Amino acid sequence: MKLYEAIKGRRSIRRFKPDPVPQEVLDRILEMAIWAPSGMNLQNWYFLVVTGERKDALVGLASKSYDYIEPVLKEVFAERPPVVEAAKKFFSRLGGAPVLVFAFYEPTRERPETSVQTVAAAIQNLLLAAHAEGLGTCWMTGPCMWLTRLMNFWVSATRRAWQSSLWGIQMNRPLPRNASRGGWCTKGSKARGVSRELW
Ligand SMILES: Cc1cc2nc3c(=O)[nH]c(=O)nc-3n(C[C@H](O)[C@H](O)[C@H](O)COP(=O)(O)O)c2cc1C
Repeated sequence: MKLYEAIKGRRSIRRFKPDPVPQEVLDRILEMAIWAPSGMNLQNWYFLVVTGERKDALVGLASKSYDYIEPVLKEVFAERPPVVEAAKKFFSRLGGAPVLVFAFYEPTRERPETSVQTVAAAIQNLLLAAHAEGLGTCWMTGPCMWLTRLMNFWVSATRRAWQSSLWGIQMNRPLPRNASRGGWCTKGSKARGVSRELW
């Protein structure tokens, strides 16, 4: 798959088929993630791949986060109540994805923003690689409020001082899109986000 095609073709997927993702596919995708640039080339990212019963337990925790996010969603999508309803449904099962990936960073002497950007670059690589493998993904920070607590437990159990800032990504082949729901907003509008005059 050509890079430009992959960038434009990747979209957030919120309904997944239940079949497992083969280990070798996961390995290829994670390898692409860690080819990303990183501040001072410290590569201080950390990915945790969760499947099976542990994944189910995490999904249960993630769904509790919805109550905290609902007021914000209702405000942002005041004109589009179906988006709020869809988000509620999505949080309850995380789309039925059989794989969750959590991304952390290990704190360095750099500012935290550098590490956040480092991990974000790796995540974008991961999403594009998954897309090239025919898998759907959705980058999520929404459920992390609750998941962070559990992660802290796991992390201390492994005696690693990973920063508890994390992102969750679900992964699997997407179910067909519901065309009537459409996207959340128009993609890639040139009027948004890019300015050539202000350098
Ligand atoms: C940092 C970040 C956090 C996100 N958190 C959530 C989330 O909690 N729940 C969700 O459904 N989507 C989440 N998304 C996905 C965005 O909603 C999505 O990228 C955006 O609507 C554009 O759609 P697209 O990915 O299909 O291009 C997140 C994306 C990013 C980059």
